[in-house]
Amino acid sequence: MLEIAENGCTWVLSGPNSSYALHLTSDDELLHLHWGPRIALADAEALAVRPLPDYWPFESPLDGREEYPVEGGPRFVRPALSVRGEERRGTEWVFEAYSAEDDELRLRFRDGGLAITLHYRVRSGTDVVERWVTLHNEGPALELLRADSAVWTLPDREGWRLSQLHGRWAAESRLARSPLAYGEKVIGSRRGHTGHQHLPWVALDTDATEERGEVYGCALGWSGSWRIAVAQLPDARVQITGGAGHDDSGLLRLAAGESFASPVFAGLWSEGGFGGASRAWHAYQRAYVIPDADRDRPVLFNSWEATEFDISEEQQGVLARRAAAIGVELFVVDDGWFGARTSDRAGLGDWTPNPDRFPGGLKPLGDYVHALGMQFGIWVEPEMVNPDSELYREHPDWVQYQPGRKRTELRNQLVLNLAREDVQEYLWEQLHGLLSSAPIDYVKWDFNRCFTDAGWPGEPYPQRLWVDHVHALYRLLDRLRAAHPGVAFESCSGGGGRIDLGVMSRTDQVWTSDNTDPLDRLAIQHGFSQIHPARAMAAWVTDSPNTQLNGRISSLRFRFVSAMAGVLGVGGDLAEWTEEELEEARGWVELYKEIRPLVQRGDLYRLRAPEGGLSAVQYVLGDETVVLAWLQAQHFGEPVPALRLRGLDPTASYECRETGEVHRGVVLLHHGLRTGLRGDLDAAVLRLRRI
Ligand code: GLA
Repeated sequence: MLEIAENGCTWVLSGPNSSYALHLTSDDELLHLHWGPRIALADAEALAVRPLPDYWPFESPLDGREEYPVEGGPRFVRPALSVRGEERRGTEWVFEAYSAEDDELRLRFRDGGLAITLHYRVRSGTDVVERWVTLHNEGPALELLRADSAVWTLPDREGWRLSQLHGRWAAESRLARSPLAYGEKVIGSRRGHTGHQHLPWVALDTDATEERGEVYGCALGWSGSWRIAVAQLPDARVQITGGAGHDDSGLLRLAAGESFASPVFAGLWSEGGFGGASRAWHAYQRAYVIPDADRDRPVLFNSWEATEFDISEEQQGVLARRAAAIGVELFVVDDGWFGARTSDRAGLGDWTPNPDRFPGGLKPLGDYVHALGMQFGIWVEPEMVNPDSELYREHPDWVQYQPGRKRTELRNQLVLNLAREDVQEYLWEQLHGLLSSAPIDYVKWDFNRCFTDAGWPGEPYPQRLWVDHVHALYRLLDRLRAAHPGVAFESCSGGGGRIDLGVMSRTDQVWTSDNTDPLDRLAIQHGFSQIHPARAMAAWVTDSPNTQLNGRISSLRFRFVSAMAGVLGVGGDLAEWTEEELEEARGWVELYKEIRPLVQRGDLYRLRAPEGGLSAVQYVLGDETVVLAWLQAQHFGEPVPALRLRGLDPTASYECRETGEVHRGVVLLHHGLRTGLRGDLDAAVLRLRRI
């Protein structure tokens, strides 16, 4: 809901539980008024007339109070907008007009030939405020050094804490929480993709717990380089600035007639603690970000860990038969099916089936997989090329490079310059052709190296390729989705290197991590769940001992229950599994299908964090709830604590499907549910239904 004061200078955007308010002064300063519990327009107007502090000349009254601090004038905070013209730097804007349409508020400013529009939107039924900026240049060419999406201002409080999700390859999205100190904390990626190192999300609180207290969160929808800076200003105010690009040295050139639209930086205020904030983020993403989120994702099998590059049609057929027999619904052939791709040294770029391995193309295997009653999927990595490929031999200039400098290879591959239209067209033709050539229902889209020598010979600086690469990727995905509406896409980047609201609005799920160790996964999934829903979180059951990382031995039970917390997949070498293991797996897959609507569409409660002992999550949907619990290690024969459940009706009774016991809601909420777990690496699924 959007309310506008009669004088047209104060605006309040509200969701069911929160409001966001801003005000334009007579000097065209756009001030932040409020972000927090719901307020009325009159409250905002009362805030708007509170005088700004009267500072000495070494501080600016605007700092920490502006919605979108530009560079120039009496401001010392980090500018969100930094522009350089022939003879001018910085911005001095005048307000032109506002407009309101479908809950979106637009405020238009102008500085000479540059039109600057700030956008605000609260999606109906949510408390998420989406903010972004569009720029249109009608004057002489400008260099856009920095154009952040938004600046979020928090209220005066003492003792802010910062939560972030940090990581690296095979160890993504781990939650870290620390006190915020004076100065700035900067996270981001200068790698050309979202990166494994940080998810583009932060949360700030002063005293929240899992289920109580105020939490502010912000998440950026951008799949290229990015930056979020959290600043604790001298007078203890906090501002969070975020947008595309990592540095301030140049985003792109804006010639006359050209425009730039920043990605969305979404913000959420919640007073339901970290759990309440997560549930609100999840509901928002299921409703407005993830395509077709009301359709549950199928159980998949992926051949990567089983076979790596050593694949053939016949061997995939064997795996497919076994996968079908345990109840898998989608069979995915990973890397190695195309070009000369028998190792990571060759073939990327040549998106035609390897004739030695798939003599009749992919269609026969696709048909076979369909005949087994499963969907068929493939792996691709379209933005890359191996120098040892037909594509590179034909078009060595299609990659990102700096003339006369080394072309850095990582995993023996180079990055294609997707900003080039010919490259875009080539990829469209290849992928469109591929999806038309075989009954393909699913594409795992990978991105296995960072940008290093990002240059485009002949293009003026600052070069557009960092930004245009991401836009080209988005356009390609959009175009393929439109032409092949039945095909689902997964975003992968060496595991979780490209997970953000931008790519998630164009893909059906994400590959959470190449780390499929079921114990490490609990921490990764705990972090992931702070912002993203289980509906998008792919998780596989792989072999024991773990082949990829650590040789850890764990039961099929532990591996399945760990992976059942997201979109279940199987990635083990089924050809080596015993009849008993396959039979047990069939039971777990069947159980997963039963609880799937709760996991993928329910409300998530994190009952205990994976910190060494017992951890658990609970999903609630309507009258049903399911608890997934894991015991890492039991010490000294101590009893395993009961799990206090959440989200239940205290006056109702619930029957546990596993034990047949009937529990009072209030007892489950206040005294807890016993899990029966014991020993090391034990796990359980407990289903309860209201009776
Ligand atoms: C990346 C992915 C893996 C697998 C390999 C194939 O590392 O994360 O799952 O697809 O590429 O080369």
